[in-house]
Amino acid sequence: MNAPPDRYAVIGHPIEHSKSPAIHTAFARQTGQHLTYERLPAEPDAFAATVATFFADGGAGLNVTLPFKTEAAAYADRLTDRAQRAGAVNTLARRDDGTLLGDNTDGIGLARDLERGLDTAIAGARILILGAGGAVRGVVPVLLEQGAAEICVANRTVAKAETIAHDFADMGTVRACPLNTEEDGWDLVINAISAGLGGEMPDLSPAIIARARGAYDMLYANVPTPFLRWVAAQGVARRCDGLGMLVEQAAESFALWRGVRPSTVEVIAALRQSGDPRTP
Ligand code: ATR
Repeated sequence: MNAPPDRYAVIGHPIEHSKSPAIHTAFARQTGQHLTYERLPAEPDAFAATVATFFADGGAGLNVTLPFKTEAAAYADRLTDRAQRAGAVNTLARRDDGTLLGDNTDGIGLARDLERGLDTAIAGARILILGAGGAVRGVVPVLLEQGAAEICVANRTVAKAETIAHDFADMGTVRACPLNTEEDGWDLVINAISAGLGGEMPDLSPAIIARARGAYDMLYANVPTPFLRWVAAQGVARRCDGLGMLVEQAAESFALWRGVRPSTVEVIAALRQSGDPRTP
């Protein structure tokens, strides 16, 4: 008799619109891996119980999305260095000894998409990041590791940006500034403000984008995001939303679980065509 497929899922709240099942199912088909991948809903206070049941029932791995990434870092038995530094986990993998490894593939997903989707080198770049939430903690260490010359984190609440700058200071040049900074000379501007797809961007100075080689929005939608509309109005040609980052971080999770790295290009193209990929 054939062995049953290994079980994977994405846990979050809300989770109904997640594209992760479509992405991982496409990866499995492409690589010939025998697995299933489903959505695992959990009430905000039920993360630990839901995860425990999933793995007790034989689950092999989970992706973790909002609002559970910090809780997942506390839940894992062991963390990769990058997950430890981020203080957030988006991937849980059951090891052979039954323990759970927590990883964070968001940063490497962004790095891959910046270089491929946006065709912009990270090494040597001066990078301005707008926002200082959980997502930024995942990407700052990876951008520094990949040789960014300088990162400035701009945030409405400057103290949060200062905390991030402090926490990663040992890895490279990283500092904080207010969101309405007028400093120019950035090679790359990355938006990580989650003000909502329908909402307007807060007032930003055109100076921040004046000399940029490219702009990246970690949000994505089937229409240009508010940030990318603003960037386009400033005349920056090289722009990219976060759909590629979503698929690239998924590919990294898949590689951790299965030991085989899927190709992402056609999966990104298929998602672009399929409508409204709003949530991870
Ligand atoms: P994520 O995990 O997606 O990063 P988060 O941790 O809730 O989400 O962080 C949201 C980010 O968007 C924060 O940087 C937040 O700024 P504050 O730290 O000042 O709260 C930013 N943000 C959300 N709405 C905003 C708005 N209307 N104007 C400016 N910044 C906003």
